[in-house]
Amino acid sequence: MSTTESGGPPRVAASTEPYPKVAAKGSAPAYFSCRDLHAYYGQSYVVQGVSFDIREGEIVALLGRNGAGKTSTLRTIARLADPQLQHGEIWLDHQPLHKMSAFQAARCGVGLVPEDRRIIAGLTVEENLKLAQIEKPIGWSIERLYEHFPRLAERRNQEAVTMSGGEQQMLAVARALARDVKLLLLDEPYEGLAPVIVREIEKILEEVKTLGFTTIIVEQNAIAALHLSDRALILDMGEIVFDGTAREVIDNAELRQQYLAI
Ligand SMILES: Nc1ncnc2c1ncn2[C@@H]1O[C@H](COP(=O)(O)OP(=O)(O)OP(=O)(O)O)[C@@H](O)[C@H]1O
Ligand SMILES: [Mg+2]
Repeated sequence: MSTTESGGPPRVAASTEPYPKVAAKGSAPAYFSCRDLHAYYGQSYVVQGVSFDIREGEIVALLGRNGAGKTSTLRTIARLADPQLQHGEIWLDHQPLHKMSAFQAARCGVGLVPEDRRIIAGLTVEENLKLAQIEKPIGWSIERLYEHFPRLAERRNQEAVTMSGGEQQMLAVARALARDVKLLLLDEPYEGLAPVIVREIEKILEEVKTLGFTTIIVEQNAIAALHLSDRALILDMGEIVFDGTAREVIDNAELRQQYLAI
């Protein structure tokens, strides 16, 4: 990662204005689009001109080595304070996320499932889900979530942080769907889970896929992510070095060796 002294391009300020629906540029605008994103942790330049498009309902694997900038890219899209977006545009369903705070982006449909899952201690499974629904717009009902996540239904009254890692991951995904999510961002959903649990989470994500949620999945288990995905992006040193189909990455051993070391 390189460092800049000057602070780079002009900063994009979050605004509190309401956003009218406006058309994105181009004849057939993508459902989600990032244009030339540059983001920094202080002086540390970590997202270095990232651009890509996603069609509605597509699932895209965002891959790359440790430290490539995958988490930082998801955090930039979700408009978290760090890393700070200093240049670029982010559009989701005609809404300019680049002008929003994290709270506004979440309200516009960005559902980040972070690596650490952020399950709230002291609350039961059901309380965690209900907490996600205190603000509109609401997504799936609690009943519908329990239909799709029977393990959570069984454990609805259990303190959520006492569940296994796999169950907590299910809760983290369910909590995102409890909101009206238009773009699901999954950061390492299989991390730290035994293979049998990975398969369970995979089944849930297959189901999420058939239901048409537009999704970006970041995963160290690149092969598993590629099997789930339509498309793949590879990040290296904060830049996109490959944008193509998941199949192309599966079939290209040289590409995988060069950027993913698999
Ligand atoms: N809070 C932070 N402050 C400063 N630098 C950071 C911070 N978080 C991450 N970085 C740096 O930003 C770069 C990109 O990190 P990021 O976490 O986005 O990578 P990643 O691709 O998600 O890696 P991993 O596969 O290990 O999760 C790395 O060089 C990392 O050290
Ligand atoms: Mg990461």
